[in-house]
Amino acid sequence: MTKSQIKESIDRLRENINRHNYLYYVKSSPEITDFEFDQLLKELEDLENKNPEFASPLSPTKRVGNDILSSFEQGDHKFPMLSLGNTYSEEDLNEFFDRTEKTIETTPNYTCELKFDGVAISITYENGNLTKAITRGDGNRGDIVTDNIKTIKSIPLTLMGNDYPESFEIRGEVLMPFSSFETINEERIQEGNDPFANPRNAASGTLKMLDPKVVAHRKLDCMLYYMASDSVSEITHFEAMTNARTYGFKVPDTMRLCKTREEIKEFISYWDKERENLPYAIDGVVIKVNNFDLQKQLGFTSKTPRWAISYKFKAEQELTKLNDITYQVGRTGAITPVANLEPVQLAGTIVKRASLHNADQIAIHDIRINDMVYVEKGGEIIPKVVGVDKTKRENSSEPLQYITTCPECNTELIRIEGEAKHFCPNETGCPPQIKGRIKHFISRKAMNIDGIGEETVELLFDKKYIKDITDLYSLNADDIKVLDGMGDKSAEQLITGVEESKKMPFASVLFALGIRYVGETVAKKLARGVKNIDSLIAMNKEELIEIDEIGEKIAESIIDFFADETKKQMTLKLKEIGLKMELEEEELNNSDVLKGLTFVITGTFEKYSREELQLLIEKYGGKKTSSISKKTSYLLAGKNVGPAKMQKVEKLGINIISENEFLNMIE
Ligand code: IVH
Repeated sequence: MTKSQIKESIDRLRENINRHNYLYYVKSSPEITDFEFDQLLKELEDLENKNPEFASPLSPTKRVGNDILSSFEQGDHKFPMLSLGNTYSEEDLNEFFDRTEKTIETTPNYTCELKFDGVAISITYENGNLTKAITRGDGNRGDIVTDNIKTIKSIPLTLMGNDYPESFEIRGEVLMPFSSFETINEERIQEGNDPFANPRNAASGTLKMLDPKVVAHRKLDCMLYYMASDSVSEITHFEAMTNARTYGFKVPDTMRLCKTREEIKEFISYWDKERENLPYAIDGVVIKVNNFDLQKQLGFTSKTPRWAISYKFKAEQELTKLNDITYQVGRTGAITPVANLEPVQLAGTIVKRASLHNADQIAIHDIRINDMVYVEKGGEIIPKVVGVDKTKRENSSEPLQYITTCPECNTELIRIEGEAKHFCPNETGCPPQIKGRIKHFISRKAMNIDGIGEETVELLFDKKYIKDITDLYSLNADDIKVLDGMGDKSAEQLITGVEESKKMPFASVLFALGIRYVGETVAKKLARGVKNIDSLIAMNKEELIEIDEIGEKIAESIIDFFADETKKQMTLKLKEIGLKMELEEEELNNSDVLKGLTFVITGTFEKYSREELQLLIEKYGGKKTSSISKKTSYLLAGKNVGPAKMQKVEKLGINIISENEFLNMIE
């Protein structure tokens, strides 16, 4: 093939793939199988690899994500990204209509749309190509997240047809559908991370990730709802968005043109009910004056357009029967009452359990077993009981007696001043507390023991192989390989994992001990401040407070921990077993050379990855931040640093150092 034939094939493949992408992600009506699609993509990838001169950042092969960034650059919005005024009732809404119609002295048409509950984005297209995507930020300036946005398959990289304006910004909402949200949360829980509270947080967290490859793996979607341009030729918003659909954008077909207030109210009540069948979250409806000239006449306040308003739905509620209440005991002994409900459909999922928070909440609402209760799903994914329909209560019903003893170990519960929850004080004898502490000890951010999961902890504890953390270190492969679901290989892995954990640094051990308020970061500061466990045990409150970031509350908690003889003995036993109870020689000698210095990492490096460089900075007492400011001490710059970043650094007079110069600093 000649070079021009190759170029032609590449162009044809790109066009073809873009079309199938559009059919699959925007139209939801694919014409080819996933396998056939992958074949096309592979063919294009091969051609591009062999002919790098035809590479293009807009090729569909680039949707998998580019280099990892160390921080986002900021960009200005050409037109500010405003928010919307909110209404919550028909009365508020009528006021909006009256106000609007008085100003423009006519009854306009309105476009009604769904109010998507995600993250706002503004995407710039020049000559039909996606050039930039910026988050809302403060409305005037946001993070440039172009590479992440390019991984969203429903967003066109190049536009279809040739009717689009030469240059425009289109705005919309990046969403995470419920299905991807659930998968990602399962993954996060397995990896020892906190789950995202709701799809909006998940979408926003994902968009701010520095590695576009991870973003590509999370299935985001994007609904477009606004054209911002000086050169839109259409007369109305509805038309502009309908035309945008023909350029390849996912403009929701739920959008309606309404001529009367009644039609608008019908639209609202239809979606208030129907939203439970949508695959993603919406939290209301947006109503916009349709005609651009009328919009201009109405103008803007400092924060919101006067030509649009949102109507927010009430949080979804359902009435269902409270069958029973069970009580969960956490790692710290805190008791959480949980409602077991007659299963009910709520916001797209079936709810069987809901949080009751604590005894006070139950008493305030006078919640009783067999009551018909209102269950609500707010922005959060864990539903809660918010009230009782007392008209449906049976005469025989009696007030709930909150438990007074622990459901797991029968110990009398206590209440701690300032805490809403009851606690089981039997720290050393209450099974879920012990198991919880062991699970924390083995978790990834603590001792990171490979080969043991939460279920293995349950099994080993229930079979009496371990009764506290220290027992992990006397397990033997022959004993445990006969356990249900174990076998030679997993027993071996477990023992190796336990042995390997002895190499974990002092800071991880401190975190793993499970001292209240000593999280991962505090543990690092503490390790550096005290240098070894013996001096930590010997320190008094005043000495502890001297350490960077240790306040009164943390200091008291540490003192309490070691004042407890069992915990102190357990710690000393771990030391005897061979866990690292002091800073390593190198940590000791060099730990402070970067103290007080703040670094921003950018570009690509030869010897270390960015993550490794970050670890080195922290190890030597420095701090890594993601954006450049006056407080930045050094820009640690690799190859391929963007010109905008360099300009900013030079303007602020920040020192730029190379990888080697940095390594010299810590050597
Ligand atoms: S129009 C100038 N339309 O709601 C008007 N916004 O509370 C710009 N939103 O920041 C916004 N769905 O993130 C518009 N159909 C829709 C929307 C929508 C969700 C978000 C958007 C905005 C926020 C305001």
